[in-house]
Amino acid sequence: MSAPRKLFVKTYGCQMNVYDSERMSEALGGQGYVTTDRAEDADMILLNTCHIREKAAEKVYSELGRLRPLKDANPDLKIGVTGCVAQAEGEEIMRRAPVVDLVVGPQSYHRLPAMEDAVRKGGRALDTDFPLDDKFDTLKSRPKARRAPSAFLTVQEGCDKFCAFCVVPYTRGAEVSRPADRVLREARELVEAGVAELTLLGQNVNAYHGHPGGLAGLIWELNEIEGLERIRFTTSHPNDMDDALIEAHGSCPKLMPYLHLPVQSGSDRILKAMNRKHTADGYIRLIERIRAARPDILLSGDFIVGFPGETEADFEATMNLIRTVEYGQAYSFKYSTRPGTPAAEKPQLPEDVMNDRLQRLQTLLTEQQQRLQAAMVGREVGVLFEKPGRIEGQMIGKSDHLHAVFAEAPASVRGQVRRVRIVEAGPNSLKGIVLN
Ligand code: 5AD
Ligand code: SF4
Repeated sequence: MSAPRKLFVKTYGCQMNVYDSERMSEALGGQGYVTTDRAEDADMILLNTCHIREKAAEKVYSELGRLRPLKDANPDLKIGVTGCVAQAEGEEIMRRAPVVDLVVGPQSYHRLPAMEDAVRKGGRALDTDFPLDDKFDTLKSRPKARRAPSAFLTVQEGCDKFCAFCVVPYTRGAEVSRPADRVLREARELVEAGVAELTLLGQNVNAYHGHPGGLAGLIWELNEIEGLERIRFTTSHPNDMDDALIEAHGSCPKLMPYLHLPVQSGSDRILKAMNRKHTADGYIRLIERIRAARPDILLSGDFIVGFPGETEADFEATMNLIRTVEYGQAYSFKYSTRPGTPAAEKPQLPEDVMNDRLQRLQTLLTEQQQRLQAAMVGREVGVLFEKPGRIEGQMIGKSDHLHAVFAEAPASVRGQVRRVRIVEAGPNSLKGIVLN
C-alpha cells in the first residue's frame, strides 16, 4: 500500500477560516490525505486566506514566492489558494502565480476533491462560484476522530449589512443560514467526539434564521444536548440582538457570559458614514439591557480608527463610548482601504494621525481589560481545561468569561469544566485553585 498523501494547511484571519480549514482537510481526507504541520513534507499545500484588511493579497503572493523552492524540489507538490483572497483575486492569482495549481473560494470548497483529481492529472483548477448547492450538505459528516474540548461550528455565513469599509459581503456573499437540524446533527457528532464547548460562527451570527426562534431558538436546542457544557457565538451586529437572545443570556444555563458585539465607532456622524444603521446611544442602551439580563457578562468589541472623515472630536466620542461601556476584550484596527467598498472612494486620513489614535485607543482598552481581569481575583468561576501548562502538574483552560486560567490539576481534567477560585491575575492569564 502506498503511504497516504500529506496535506499542509496554513490558515489566516478569522475563526471561520479555522473551521473551513478543518472541513477542507476532512474533505481531502476522503482523497487519502492526512494532515501534516510541516510544509516541507506536504504533497498539497493550501493557503486559506483572509481579505479583511490591507496587504492581504501581497502577503499571499510573498508566501507563494517562499513556497516555490518546495515545488522545485518536489514536482508532485500541488499548491492551492482558498478563502477570501481566492474569492476576490481568483483569476489574478492564476495569472500572477504559475506556482498555484488550484484556487477555490469560500462558497465552493466542497468541490475540492474533484478539483484535486483534476490537478493530479496535471491541470489547473479555479472555482469562485457562489453555487446554489449547500456546501455543508455535500461535505460528508464529521469524522469520528477524538476532538479537542472546544470546537467551532459555522451556522451562518455571509452578510447583507454592507458596512462601507467591509469586503465580507463581496467575498463571502449574501447572508445564508444553515438549517437547524443540520447544525444540531453536526453538534451531536462533535460532542460524541469529545467536544464540551461549541462556538457558533457567522459573520452576522445573530441574524441566524435557520430556526424559527432565530439564534436563541437554536441555542436553547443545543442546551439540551447531553455532554455539551458550554455554548458561545460570534460575531454579532447590534441591530440583530433581539429580545429572545438577550433573554437567553439571562436564563440559558449553557450560554456563557461573554459577548462580542462590535460597534466600530462612538461617533454618530462616523457610524452613519460607515452605514452601521445605529447610533452610539442606541448601542449603549442595548448594552444596558444585556447587562440587566446578565450582570456579569464580559463584553468584547471591534473598533476602527481613522475612518475617512474622522475628526479628533469623532475619535473622542469613541473613547467616551469605551469609557462608558468598559470592555473586557477588544480588537482595534486602523482603517484600511478595501478596493470595491464604498469608503475606498473617500479621502484617507494621514498615517501618523491614525497611528496616534490607535495607540491612545489601545492604551485605554488594555487598561480596561487588565482591570476587569484583576477584578476576577477572589471569584469562583467555571474553567474548561484544555491542555497541560508549561509547568509540570499544571493545566490550562478557559473561564466562563473566556479568560485563560491555569491551575494545578491532573491531566485527567482535560475536557472537563471544574469550579476554580481565582487567586492571582497576571497580564495575560489568571491563576486559580481547583475546588472540585
Ligand atoms: N479596515 C479596518 N478594519 C476593518 N474591519 C473590517 N474591515 C476593515 C477595514 N477596511 C474590522 C472591523 C470588523 C473586524 C472583523 O475587522 O472592526 O469588525
Ligand atoms: Fe462586514 Fe460585519 Fe459590517 Fe457585515 S456587519 S459588512 S461582516 S463589518
